[in-house]
Amino acid sequence: MLPPDGWPGDGSAPQEPRLLAISDLHAAHRGNEEVVAALAPGHPDDWLIVAGDVADGIDEVAGVLAQLRERFARVLWTPGNHELLAGKDAGRAERGVERYDRYVERLRAVGVDTPDDPYPRWEGPGGPAIVAPLFTLYDYGFGATRFGATAAERLERAKAGRVVAVDEYLLDPAPFPSREAWCAARVAATSARLDALDPSLPTVLVSHWPLHEHPTEILRHPEFSLWCGTPRTADWHERYRALAVVYGHLHIPRRTTLGATRFEEVSLGYPREWRRFGGPRRPRVILPAPPPGPFAPDVPEGFKLPPPRD
Ligand SMILES: [Fe+2]
Ligand SMILES: [Fe+2]
Repeated sequence: MLPPDGWPGDGSAPQEPRLLAISDLHAAHRGNEEVVAALAPGHPDDWLIVAGDVADGIDEVAGVLAQLRERFARVLWTPGNHELLAGKDAGRAERGVERYDRYVERLRAVGVDTPDDPYPRWEGPGGPAIVAPLFTLYDYGFGATRFGATAAERLERAKAGRVVAVDEYLLDPAPFPSREAWCAARVAATSARLDALDPSLPTVLVSHWPLHEHPTEILRHPEFSLWCGTPRTADWHERYRALAVVYGHLHIPRRTTLGATRFEEVSLGYPREWRRFGGPRRPRVILPAPPPGPFAPDVPEGFKLPPPRD
């Protein structure tokens, strides 16, 4: 079994429950199925955040999360782009909002928390804190200073450099006219919910796409940042008192800090990626807060991994 990344790391079973996180399980990929099968809590009351890109099909995602829910006291999910790609389910035609709603319905049925459920409160060590899975998508707004002032210019430049996410063809925003419009609607609805939280409580914000642009600055193909988030959430870590922002999507596991907030990229990624780290990443301990500094082994300075290929 794969216990969480050790903190303090002596290999002993933790005495207290922990809030753990992982993302980008891409469970259908050969080599990752075994990793998912081995994911296990260290303490019977551990919670597990799964921050998107579980798999590409509704049945597969529901199957993986139901399995994890049997092992962990609570499982919180937020969608990645892979969950939303159309045409990945045999005999199914859901797209866009309808597809997202189908996930919410299926996952609720197996006891998994979704972005459309009340945000749970972590009362374990490092708490109390509201744990909020968010679905805010992206709007091509990252990279404005690097790739042109308008989204159209940025997209044109990315396409000229042959950097185009598969989302352009398969992530249908229906009934919204565009992914930007869907993103704007989700941001508005989500910020209204976050504004209504008890202001005396800190949060843990969870999103597949990073809520702030800075993690995209080390991408080997920086134009890929267009598909990585929205500047509309750039101040959410401060505005909503985040102890940590948990995200994935980049397949570059690391920890950075902005002000008082840890940004934790918790992806597993594809086997060819995690093999570079000597083995699959384990779930990261989000709460209680780890000792200051990078988790080990951190991405070395200047080391750049390619963005996801699809
Ligand atoms: Fe991914
Ligand atoms: Fe992704």
